Amino acid sequence: MISKKIKHISPSVTLAISAKAKSLKKQGVDVINFAAGEPDFDTPDYIKQAAIEAIKGGFTKYTPATGMQELKEAICEKFRRDNALVYAPDQIAVSCGAKHSLYNLLQVLCEEGDEVIIPSPYWLSYPEMIKLAGARPVIAKTDKKTFTIKVEEFRRCITKKTRAIIINSPSNPTGAVYSKDTLEKIAELAVSRNIPVISDEIYEKLIYDKLNHISIASLNKKIYELTFVVNGVSKSYAMTGWRIGYLAGRPEVVKGVAVLQSHSTSNPSSISQAAALTAIGSDDTSTRKMSEEFEKRRDVLMEGLKNIKGIECAKPQGAFYCFADVSGTGMDGLTFSKKLLDEKHIAIIPGEPFGLKDHVRLSFATSIDDIKKGIERLGEWVEQ
Ligand SMILES: Cc1ncc(COP(=O)(O)O)c(C=O)c1O
Repeated sequence: MISKKIKHISPSVTLAISAKAKSLKKQGVDVINFAAGEPDFDTPDYIKQAAIEAIKGGFTKYTPATGMQELKEAICEKFRRDNALVYAPDQIAVSCGAKHSLYNLLQVLCEEGDEVIIPSPYWLSYPEMIKLAGARPVIAKTDKKTFTIKVEEFRRCITKKTRAIIINSPSNPTGAVYSKDTLEKIAELAVSRNIPVISDEIYEKLIYDKLNHISIASLNKKIYELTFVVNGVSKSYAMTGWRIGYLAGRPEVVKGVAVLQSHSTSNPSSISQAAALTAIGSDDTSTRKMSEEFEKRRDVLMEGLKNIKGIECAKPQGAFYCFADVSGTGMDGLTFSKKLLDEKHIAIIPGEPFGLKDHVRLSFATSIDDIKKGIERLGEWVEQ
């Protein structure tokens, strides 16, 4: 009954573990959740209010398939303000989350048998989306300890079939932030081989140690023309449930996304678009507060992990994850996470679906108290 296309796609492990942790919690078990893939903050009230007003004002009908003009204009203004990037509204497509933007983009760019390069560790949806677009994921390894991109690895992966390179900074699952130098090298390579770059910048505003986010598209005119920037409101404004993401790039590709969207989902929810318009146009005070809190939590988590033998972890500089090597405990990531949930009720995500089986992903989208409690439990358990 089920098509081959779907049979070869893995279900999302993150969602499955989060669901198990939630169900244990419901049964009254004291679960420490290091598995979350979303901010544990609530959507700010002023954004909720915009949605309430949209409902009351009757803004409850279809909009253009890739979003209303006003929102596209606000997104152009955001790119100008935050990233020094100039786009026109016909270069923007709004979709039901950045995941949807990435999915549609790959469908529009890829032919059957094409190859798309992704650095490993990668966000676990990239390979599956690439396969769903009929293409093949090609994995470029990063430094195993620091997760730094090696541009030579990208070069080695390029063939005649290469259709795109996906980059993701700050990264899920490692929290690594690409340096300007690395971005310049990737840009130089992409331009010299005329390969489009898909730059997933969804964690742009969750960045620490006084670093500034740099969009690869802003480096020069040539890479600007080859880049598709993907972003959204999910992580920056704690709006994961509202489902608004967007992409920016060449108008002809954006038009292709519009055609696809017009025959599949149509527009993202009009009410969520109204809320996103307010979020994107706001002064980001709530985002900054959330980011500062994440930075504090990161420090507590890293300090705690440092003292646990057998676990090694590079310091994340963005997003809300760290990606720890647990091979020193004698377990692989999958065994480690399964046992930890069963025996100590700590939920973490195994590294295998992100490309490294000796690793696990810990999310610090949880309270400082829980981080401290979790670290203590984890330390005792590993010691045993
Ligand atoms: C790297 C990365 N890209 C994209 C997304 C999708 O975000 P959205 O909620 O906007 O679909 C996520 C969500 O976890 C992510 O981690």
